[in-house]
Amino acid sequence: MTKLILAAAALFLTPALHAQFKVLAPANTYGLYAAKEFPSFTGGTTFSFGAASLHLKLYQGYVKNVNALQQRFKELEDEGKADTAEYAGLKRRFGWEFNGMRLHELYFAQFGAAPLGASSDLRQALAAQYGTFEAWQKAYLALTQARGIGWAALVYDRPARRFHNVWINEHDAGVPAGTEVLLVTDLFEHAFLPDFQLEKARYVQAAWAALNWPVIEKRFAGK
Ligand SMILES: [Fe+2]
Repeated sequence: MTKLILAAAALFLTPALHAQFKVLAPANTYGLYAAKEFPSFTGGTTFSFGAASLHLKLYQGYVKNVNALQQRFKELEDEGKADTAEYAGLKRRFGWEFNGMRLHELYFAQFGAAPLGASSDLRQALAAQYGTFEAWQKAYLALTQARGIGWAALVYDRPARRFHNVWINEHDAGVPAGTEVLLVTDLFEHAFLPDFQLEKARYVQAAWAALNWPVIEKRFAGK
């Protein structure tokens, strides 16, 4: 029996298993996020470098706040203060900060000016639902001109195999639960004022022309 226990212990302590354990273990207590780089956005021609850099800095603020909130939640939970007004208030804010981070990541990553294939699955699926791809595009672009700040997004309800063009108010209101965001257009003024002033339609057209469709197709494919 002792031999069996020692053999099991030796097996557990092998470098391979240790390595596996490290991979499976969380990186840290809070699961902190790291701000990403988006060279196809900052190095593209749609926006001036200054405007793109400022936008990236704004995004980095969301990442920082998501991390700060997670740390504060852990502290309050450890102190037995998860029933306080502070905890409840910060919990209400978390989705706003998180979506501010994630929606910007989706948005920045979809720049790169690469076309959608004529026979791509995404094109065909949109055409099947909307009649034609162009009909969907017309409806999406019309939505981008809605008044107010937020995001226009194409989301996919995978279980129902159905697309929706949605308006996301601020960052956190209007995201249908369980859907996957395939395409987003940032419609906060900071996204277009520096380079396009109040010409929101011209901004949307320029951003549309710079879309990297293979990135969006991968999202549709669930990759
Ligand atoms: Fe933004």
